[in-house]
Amino acid sequence: MADKKATLSLPDGKTLDFPVMSGTIGPDVVDIRTLYGKSGMFTYDPGFLSTASCNSTITYIDGDAGVLLYRGYPIEQLAQHCDFLEVCYLLLNGELPTQKQKDDFVHIVIHHSMVHEQINRFFTGFRRDAHPMATMVGVVGALSAFYHDALDINNPEHRSISAFRLIAKLPTITAMAYKYNVGQPFIYPRNDLSYSANFMRMMFAVPAEDYKPNEVLVRALDRIFILHADHEQNASTSTVRLAGSSGANPFACISAGIACLWGPAHGGANEACLEMLEEIGDVSKVGEFIKKVKNKDKGVRLMGFGHRVYKNHDPRAKLMRETCHEVLNELGLHDDRLFKLAIALEKIALEDEYFVSRKLYPNVDFYSGIVQRALGIPVSMFTCVFALARTVGWIAQWQEMISDPEYKIGRPRQLYKGAARREVKPIRER
Ligand code: CMC
Repeated sequence: MADKKATLSLPDGKTLDFPVMSGTIGPDVVDIRTLYGKSGMFTYDPGFLSTASCNSTITYIDGDAGVLLYRGYPIEQLAQHCDFLEVCYLLLNGELPTQKQKDDFVHIVIHHSMVHEQINRFFTGFRRDAHPMATMVGVVGALSAFYHDALDINNPEHRSISAFRLIAKLPTITAMAYKYNVGQPFIYPRNDLSYSANFMRMMFAVPAEDYKPNEVLVRALDRIFILHADHEQNASTSTVRLAGSSGANPFACISAGIACLWGPAHGGANEACLEMLEEIGDVSKVGEFIKKVKNKDKGVRLMGFGHRVYKNHDPRAKLMRETCHEVLNELGLHDDRLFKLAIALEKIALEDEYFVSRKLYPNVDFYSGIVQRALGIPVSMFTCVFALARTVGWIAQWQEMISDPEYKIGRPRQLYKGAARREVKPIRER
């Protein structure tokens, strides 16, 4: 088959040909890397609505069909058949592990879960009432000061050690951020528990009383981790890649990713969604709230609805809805006020012309907040849990970028609309 090309006509009548590249699946892309050199023009694409910033083999999303694949495997099958550490192995290595590979992987992760003892003291520099995401941004960024023995990003072994450290220590740090916030002593990790059970114990045990993880709840948390593990080139992942493209160390890059994730249009949506449900308060107030959203009163949005990429349904939302039922049944909370409210809100929004015409459907965060709340995780910790889960995706994407022969420092261009050149007047003449 002849190589595909796209032709661009320029205002001066010249035409330029550009190669068209095809992926395994998904839309073709026009390779415009030579555009500026040939024409002196840039492309304009705020929000990257039509721009592929890299090539990747990790995650594939078809937003119209509601498909999400990690390394080719559908999210539904991974959520059903695998645990989170198997998914981590898959994202990092490209293949699902054999039993032996899994055992070795789990062993390494478990044996990196403690943090340097001095990190305990680092925490005390923060105000106790700080948002735990603020603390996480700081502590994860500071890891480069505690683990500077493996910061050579051009050394694959160093990259691998840092990757293990980040995946293993994020649950410990996340739980520490919570404990610090509520004024309880830090709980050390335990090697005989699974990744998710260990996290729950570090969150909820106190020295006076141990915490016995419940299997249904641990599985629910593990599923939250799986569903949030990667999502191709979203804002925080692109942030990690951009930060990493300058050669910054992985701890700094992941800290940048956490900072970006915190925003309410991204990872902060699950927290914002729960706050919205609390604000509505009762099923009888749903109509009034929907009216405000449709009138765009003070920019009010229905949090947990809409997605830049999923325009029919978010496959993660369906799985999270299922998990939500399982958890509420297990805890005898079928009549949970906020869950009932969420269902009512979902029903109205799915039938309302405003939402239907704009293709706004519930996203994963619409349900994950209700599940986390039922697990006993406070609202302010929701985005921290998301950050914990997404860390593996960020690392896999960062590793992929560093190993890519086409990797370059990220440097977007701009359309300058400011003042043209002018002369500085002495202050008395201004
Ligand atoms: N409630 C009400 N209206 C909405 C919403 C919403 N949640 N989302 C989009 N719209 C409207 C928006 O006002 C606009 O209307 P119009 O055409 O009249 O101007 C139209 O739908 C298109 O919106 P947009 O902002 O151009 O869409 P986008 O693709 O840039 O934004 C989004 C995607 C996720 C930022 C947005 O849907 C949103 O703010 N949702 C609420 C926050 C949320 O739940 N975020 C979590 C995303 S899932 C987790 C993750 O992957 O991080």
